[in-house]
Amino acid sequence: MKRGKFITIEGQDGAGKSTNIASVLSCLETAAIETVVTREPGGTPLGETLRDVVLGSQDADFGDMAELLLIFAARAQHIAEVIEPALAKGHWVLCDRFTDATFAYQGGGRGIKLDKISALERLVQGDLQPDLTLLLDVPVDVGVARAGQRSEPDRFERQQDEFKSRVRSVYLKRAESYSERFKLIDASQSIQEVQTQVVQVMTEFIMSNGK
Ligand code: TMP
Repeated sequence: MKRGKFITIEGQDGAGKSTNIASVLSCLETAAIETVVTREPGGTPLGETLRDVVLGSQDADFGDMAELLLIFAARAQHIAEVIEPALAKGHWVLCDRFTDATFAYQGGGRGIKLDKISALERLVQGDLQPDLTLLLDVPVDVGVARAGQRSEPDRFERQQDEFKSRVRSVYLKRAESYSERFKLIDASQSIQEVQTQVVQVMTEFIMSNGK
């Protein structure tokens, strides 16, 4: 059985992930690729509970290291119960955020040293890395304006613009460092233009992966 491909989609809050996940999925469906769609933090019952803790509580102040460990606790179970079994069965996995978000938010945003995050990444993931990461990039003010049109902001959406700008900068640095798996999408354009870029990336990836 040929192992499936692991695709992640990343970007700042308000970059338009939800709309574009639908485009990615529609490309995979057209190619008749069986796909598991999931998200982080979340993806399992425990993961969703931890998601509520990490994103939810208005006044939660549990410290940056606890936040980081909660995210990796959710990830460990998500990998074991959802991601690895699906890939082993030959299914593809489309995950709304993964460890690049931890480097961007907990590393860039919160200021946790990146080597501490790398150590947890190795411990929890072993060799598991996405095969393709779509990074939807928008200037901070565009993301803030778009995210502001949605409901109640979460613990990260409530952060200052400097936090968001550090998040963006770590994402962009990672896209440069891991250029073999990252595809940078300019998400400041119109929905149609962004969709065209996403479809192009997905078509190339699907073709070069034998489907
Ligand atoms: P979203 O899935 O609706 O984008 O919300 C998830 C939020 O969680 C988003 O603000 C980014 C944040 N997050 C982290 O801070 N670290 C992580 O590792 C992940 C996966 C998400």
